[in-house]
Amino acid sequence: MKKDLLTLKDLTKEDIVDIIKRAEEIKKGPLKKVKPLADHTIGLIFDKQSTRTRVSFEVAIYKLGGNAIFLTSSDTQIARGEPVKDTARVLSSYVDGLIVRTYSQKQVEELAKWSSIPVINALTDMYHPCQVLSDLMTVDENRVSLDNLRVAWIGDGNNVANSWINAATIMKFELTMAFPEGYLPSPDILANTSSNVKLVSTPQEAVTEANIIYTDVWASMGQEDEREQRINDFNGWQVNQSLIDLADKDVMVMHCLPAHRGEEITDEVMEGPRSIIFAQAENKLYVHQATLEKYLKPALVL
Ligand code: CP
Ligand code: NVA
Repeated sequence: MKKDLLTLKDLTKEDIVDIIKRAEEIKKGPLKKVKPLADHTIGLIFDKQSTRTRVSFEVAIYKLGGNAIFLTSSDTQIARGEPVKDTARVLSSYVDGLIVRTYSQKQVEELAKWSSIPVINALTDMYHPCQVLSDLMTVDENRVSLDNLRVAWIGDGNNVANSWINAATIMKFELTMAFPEGYLPSPDILANTSSNVKLVSTPQEAVTEANIIYTDVWASMGQEDEREQRINDFNGWQVNQSLIDLADKDVMVMHCLPAHRGEEITDEVMEGPRSIIFAQAENKLYVHQATLEKYLKPALVL
């Protein structure tokens, strides 16, 4: 039976720990000569731009011995309105897995429903599960045990925030989130959180107990028209040195990138000693290998 990764809710705590540990092992040394994806082809369907996720998934596929085919919707019949359920069945007969970045979570779910091959969500408007897996690996390798993790989310209630909520609900670490008025995650996401996910009203309140401070852009892909309004509405929500000074002296700062320096985060903080932002980006390569290896390979016909 094929297995999809559409949200972190598709994984158990044990699955997440397995991916993190395997990714750390892969990072320590080159893979043995085993090439689990040899003779297999993975399609990447991307409706939105990507640097990190696309390149790290493609390299991960090559390192596992497979072939990657990059497809932008605009170059396929998807852009001319071919139904997702037809595309899913046709692509299932050519490739062995699909990695998808698009707008609607429903579209990824529909693709997964009609595909006979595994589908991995590489970001939708609602979730970015693979990002938070890489983030959790980065936290773990920086010696913050997942049992002692206290994350402060500062900013927009967006796709990355939603995946952090899922992660905290599964892993049971402390997640304290501060969103400006009007920018909370959707009520159905907030309704399904556990008691270790807390909402506070200011960035200052959020960071006091934190060992990780996390932020993301104020306007995500697809919200470009709202950018000016959001810059106004997020005034005072920047992760800067004054905010970090309120937290534990060992606090670490994370951002999924791309960042808008001078908006949600300062250049000083990004380049400063508390930043583990570029390790997060690097770790996507190892987490993507571990994810493909452990969760897609068993579903493939080897
Ligand atoms: N963090 C992340 O997903 O980056 P890209 O948009 O470059 O893939
Ligand atoms: N929230 C951002 C994440 C980018 C990786 C966006 O969706 O644009």
